Amino acid sequence: MTKTMIVGNWKMNGTQPVARSLAEGLVNNDIIRSAHADGVQVVCCPPFTALSLVQQTIADTPIQLGGQACHHQRQGAHTGDVSAAMLRDVGCSHVLVGHSERRRDHHESDDQVVAISIAAIDAGLVPIICVGETLEEHQQGLTRNVLQRQVGILCSALGNNLSRCVLAYEPVWAIGTGLAATAEHVETTHAYIAEVTRTHGIVIPVLYGGSANASNAEELLSSEHVNGLLVGGASLDAISFAGIVAAARRKGGASS
Ligand code: PGA
Repeated sequence: MTKTMIVGNWKMNGTQPVARSLAEGLVNNDIIRSAHADGVQVVCCPPFTALSLVQQTIADTPIQLGGQACHHQRQGAHTGDVSAAMLRDVGCSHVLVGHSERRRDHHESDDQVVAISIAAIDAGLVPIICVGETLEEHQQGLTRNVLQRQVGILCSALGNNLSRCVLAYEPVWAIGTGLAATAEHVETTHAYIAEVTRTHGIVIPVLYGGSANASNAEELLSSEHVNGLLVGGASLDAISFAGIVAAARRKGGASS
């Protein structure tokens, strides 16, 4: 595991002109375009409707493409869904799985998250699997219980295949609130996740997500257990996203 990963999750933002201009902003930014020189992998996840357009814009650059979700079945009667193979077909290398907004809006369960992850791996994608506690669970001191359950299920169900995935710890209370977790919370929680996966003999990169921005990126990345960031709001502006990538470049690709 040698890379620090910065993933932009554009969520439900970006008509064609907006997506084109954002993708061009990434491609034309030196810090982002040459990030791989410092072992930093950059992935952007536009909405489905902009995937092809963004793929064409980032072609011939090291920036990679990810989907925001996919169905666990290969094809069939699933109105409104796309399969992992369809994402691969339009040039994706990654897909977000089990984002808390999918768990909330589409009732994705832990079992579905496992099934989607398997479908993604089978299609040749790297699943970026999101885990994390809600505000209520956080306030009740249940963070470790939630992670033990979410990560434990992934370890038991996916076994060694989990090493082909990336985890993203996203405390739900920190997403889109402007209140990122403290570096201390991130450090102890990521260390705990590493402990859970290690008991299953699995080593896997773990990203942090939740109100990461150019000002707090360096601090959030300072823990040896943080292998990158999953960025929502701050990924919608090329300059602020570049600030985050710059912080990752200072950390370098040496995260373990
Ligand atoms: P945020 O979103 O950076 O806007 O908090 C992160 C995410 O949901 O992936």
